[in-house]
Amino acid sequence: MREADSPSIPRHVAIVMDGNGRWARKRLMPRVFGHKAGVDALVRTVRACADRGVRHLTVFAFSSENWKRPEDEVSGLMALMMNAVAKHMAALREEGVRVRIVGDRSGISAGVIASWDTIEAATAHNQRIDLYVAFNYGGRWDIVQACKRLLAEGVDPSTLDEARLARHLVMHEAPDPDLFIRTGGELRLSNFLLWQSAYAELHFSDCLWPDFDAGELDRALQAYARRERRFGRVTASPPDADAAVPLSQPASFLSR
Ligand code: IPE
Ligand code: IPE
Ligand code: MG
Repeated sequence: MREADSPSIPRHVAIVMDGNGRWARKRLMPRVFGHKAGVDALVRTVRACADRGVRHLTVFAFSSENWKRPEDEVSGLMALMMNAVAKHMAALREEGVRVRIVGDRSGISAGVIASWDTIEAATAHNQRIDLYVAFNYGGRWDIVQACKRLLAEGVDPSTLDEARLARHLVMHEAPDPDLFIRTGGELRLSNFLLWQSAYAELHFSDCLWPDFDAGELDRALQAYARRERRFGRVTASPPDADAAVPLSQPASFLSR
């Protein structure tokens, strides 16, 4: 069922795909085996999101801090990136998925970057769902690179505001995430989309990422649909607007 026009379906879902290593360890397999199963979970999730009318999906695939992992895991993740593009590009293109890779490209090999360029070009005209893969990404890095570009433009501090800074962040084409999901049981952001998630609804699941499926997604979407998003207001939609105290008449207890 496609519910793109329903406000209860988030326009933008962001996911910290965590738990691959523990999933592999439970099977007495190397961590990269878990990452490989994680790619299959990602492809399932892209399809499930598109079917439900989610327009933008951003996933955390490799953080600025993940370079601290053992060398064989890092090189395994780089190789997996290229294999995943080769394996899934044709299907994603056919299914209307527009793929963008966001993050710091310095330190990434020419081969990996070439595979990203290939899938971005092959899917550039798709419009069903945007898939942003955050690779070598960190929320703090994103804010610093935006500031550097603003300074290079010679920004006048008096004209700088939130909207102008946001236009320089790597996710500037997408609305802010409505729903932020983290699998794997940890209750933290780990430097993902710090600026953009200011008002995202948070959903944490103990499910290890390779086990994530449409049922898990639906649980997160159901939890989201029950939330009241206020954005600093008293209530999202006043039950009886006429009964509200006019702002020009402060309540009498304030002057006591
Ligand atoms: C997340 O899974 C994927 C990446 C960080 C690349 P982990 O590899 O962090 O899995 P756990 O948290 O160790 O189980
Ligand atoms: C966050 O998971 C990064 C990705 C999922 C790519 P981590 O496993 O790296 O996060 P920490 O280290 O537990 O905070
Ligand atoms: Mg982890």
